[in-house]
Amino acid sequence: MTETLVLDDPAEECAKRLVAAVEAGGHIALTGGGTPKACYQRAAEMGADWSGATLWFGDDRCVPPDDERSNYRMAKEALFDRLPAPDGGGPVVKRILAERGPHAGAEDYERELRETLGEELPRLDMVMLGLGPDAHVASLFPGQSTLEVRDRLAVGVEEAGFEPYVPRVSVTLPVINSARQVIFLVAGEEKSDAVVRAFGGEPTPDAPGSLVRPTDGELILLLDQPAASRLSGLPE
Ligand code: 6PG
Repeated sequence: MTETLVLDDPAEECAKRLVAAVEAGGHIALTGGGTPKACYQRAAEMGADWSGATLWFGDDRCVPPDDERSNYRMAKEALFDRLPAPDGGGPVVKRILAERGPHAGAEDYERELRETLGEELPRLDMVMLGLGPDAHVASLFPGQSTLEVRDRLAVGVEEAGFEPYVPRVSVTLPVINSARQVIFLVAGEEKSDAVVRAFGGEPTPDAPGSLVRPTDGELILLLDQPAASRLSGLPE
């Protein structure tokens, strides 16, 4: 099932849905990139109880966690550091140890996912995603062999297909597609082609976003008008 909303302020809607998943005590994978920052900042101000939630990451860059390119650092500054001092504890944060390098970092994260959620394919409650102008998602880039990986939960990406050009660690498509809810937050005219390629056509490895189709979960697209401007007809 796909729900598509074209909104003046998709970050606000995304923050509300993130907070709902948090209050339900969910396992949630956060996304990196610039777009979700406003969503995280607003979610932090919504007065929710974060203590039951476990926050994962869909990907990170292989840099130290205090590097300005780190997705963890962005989420920490926009979200974790803004949560009111918790009485009963804040959320559990499962950071990707990407500074260990793409392959060791991926092995670590896969182990962490299995230890926490069981040996089988984990079912995250919510996976948040952005969409690159080249239609990449997490750190799964167009045409890369990582898109074909079915037997791993996380992969090392030696060459990023988009800036910043540092190696990455990314969860795989099976992890994304087994989630109960996958929620895309996409804003800006520069994403409008990618939106059409990801959501308005046939699945293709040239547009990794088009391969995100939850097998037994919901796909939610939160778009602003410029990002949705070239989409003719909303996906079903
Ligand atoms: C990353 C992200 C990536 C991001 C898109 C969109 O680590 O780069 O997880 O998949 O979501 O590149 O990023 P922007 O919101 O910055 O355009």
